[in-house]
Amino acid sequence: MTTILTTIAEAREALVDPRTNGTIALVPTMGALHEGHLSLVRLANEHADSVVVSIFVNPTQFGPGEDFDRYPRTFDEDVALLEGAGVDAVFAPAVDEMYPKGLDQTLVTGGPASRILEGAHRPGHFDGALTIVHKLVSIIEPDLAVFGEKDAQQLFLVRAMVDDLNLRTAIVGAPINREDDGLARSSRNRYLSAADRELALHLSAALRAADGAADADAARQIGRECLDGDGIVLDYFELVDPSTFLPVEGAHTGTALAVLAARVGTTRLIDNQLLMLGVSTAVN
Ligand code: PAF
Repeated sequence: MTTILTTIAEAREALVDPRTNGTIALVPTMGALHEGHLSLVRLANEHADSVVVSIFVNPTQFGPGEDFDRYPRTFDEDVALLEGAGVDAVFAPAVDEMYPKGLDQTLVTGGPASRILEGAHRPGHFDGALTIVHKLVSIIEPDLAVFGEKDAQQLFLVRAMVDDLNLRTAIVGAPINREDDGLARSSRNRYLSAADRELALHLSAALRAADGAADADAARQIGRECLDGDGIVLDYFELVDPSTFLPVEGAHTGTALAVLAARVGTTRLIDNQLLMLGVSTAVN
């Protein structure tokens, strides 16, 4: 039986027992759950005795003109999925519960890596995301929290926040969950028309095409060319050092994380893949 908690006081009260009896994992989400989220829940279950999933569409991480109002809200379906996955508790507060003084309040500000790539295209996004993650971790006090690797920059910044602010929660990354044809699972995929969904396959295809390129410049060129077509507007296709999230030099070889964001029709999607550059993968 999954307990639904909607206030901070209820959450703190309900989590006293599980805390005494074992470890707690938190899976923070904005709802509109799909198989990708369930893979985070499975990982959480492997690492802890109790699993809490938060469902909160966080207004401070959406910019003006972004999709906060139309973001899919499917609470009943979400809870049914989480019941089936054996989740112990769902924390689903209202906006007023999390931001009782309004949205203009104390914020967690990320370091330099929060202002490039997604941060440059969505100013303030990561400050909002880090703030809500910090609040959720302070309320639930989980032993660990699980985040998807699809949001690679978010995961990097959450790890940095936990390190920089000396939080006690361990951060666990979960591999990207893809459909059979390669499309990374995302709540925003449900905005895609059938034609846009076909076009969206270019994103994962561009990452696969760039893998094995001679160096970072070659990989960037291949990736960008794959995404230069009708119906797709590329925000960025960049190669970063996974340990700093800063772009690598053009002549860089070895491993690098390719990250991209593109608009397909009216839907903005992100994806990433770890690439191996400059190493021949030819088999004799
Ligand atoms: O990745 C998300 O769904 C959100 O950014 C998160 C971590 C739940 C914070 O609102």
